[in-house]
Amino acid sequence: MSVTGRNNARMPGDITAMKGGAPIVCLTAYTTPVARLVDAHCDLVLVGDSVGMVLHGLPSTLGVTMEMMILHGRAVNCGLRDALMVIDMPFGSYEESPAQAFRNAARLMAETGAGAVKLEGGQNMAETIAFVVARGIPVMAHVGLTPQSVNALGGYKVQGRGRDAERLRDDGRVAARAGAFAVVLEKIPAHLAETITADLAIPTIGIGAGAGCDGQILVVDDMLGLFGDFQPRFVKRFAELGRAAEAAVTAYATEVRARSFPGPEHSFADRETACPR
Ligand code: KIV
Repeated sequence: MSVTGRNNARMPGDITAMKGGAPIVCLTAYTTPVARLVDAHCDLVLVGDSVGMVLHGLPSTLGVTMEMMILHGRAVNCGLRDALMVIDMPFGSYEESPAQAFRNAARLMAETGAGAVKLEGGQNMAETIAFVVARGIPVMAHVGLTPQSVNALGGYKVQGRGRDAERLRDDGRVAARAGAFAVVLEKIPAHLAETITADLAIPTIGIGAGAGCDGQILVVDDMLGLFGDFQPRFVKRFAELGRAAEAAVTAYATEVRARSFPGPEHSFADRETACPR
């Protein structure tokens, strides 16, 4: 039995072992049905704190709470069988001290069934990563554009251009040395991501970091085209489900107003004559 309570589910060590091999496929999920949908196709499913912006309408990830992560983490765990579930540590739940980070990471693991946590930071979080990993909780690091630091970074800008590249290389190195089993590289130049990937013994998972990473991750709602209003350049929309949903809701409203829905096939007679459903 794995830490997730799921037999044969992937473990963090399985993801690390994929370094340099077949690309590691990752997506976010926040609900049971979406977790069921992506499980068979993904090596790793992230319950991202992007849930705050995607499902709760928050302006950034800063307002996401432990309770929100636990609620969505439980839902996702119900829908997964094979993929490793990683859960984000929300803003304010780990930055204060390694002990605070361990306490909240342990809660996320115990109350959701996740197999690992993710936290934002490299050099600044080295002590915390090492502390949490040494106490039995696998950690995925996240460097480059770290959305929880959006105010300090001055917006959702590309990171690591010019002289800043060396800082990000060091972030990756230090996170790996501290014991992270993988590292997310967000919104950094493709060439820099390639050099970090070549430099590290742990897998890099890119989002807006080009094709040279060991794996890729996207926010599932973005790649399904569920939103019309916001489309970062690094997102490819593999479907336009938002448009399909809009058409379906329009058709429903039209049929209700025309009294053509529900039809006899959606209604019940006093007595069933054949094939009751
Ligand atoms: O919260 C999130 O969804 C993430 C991924 C985009 C990497 O951190």
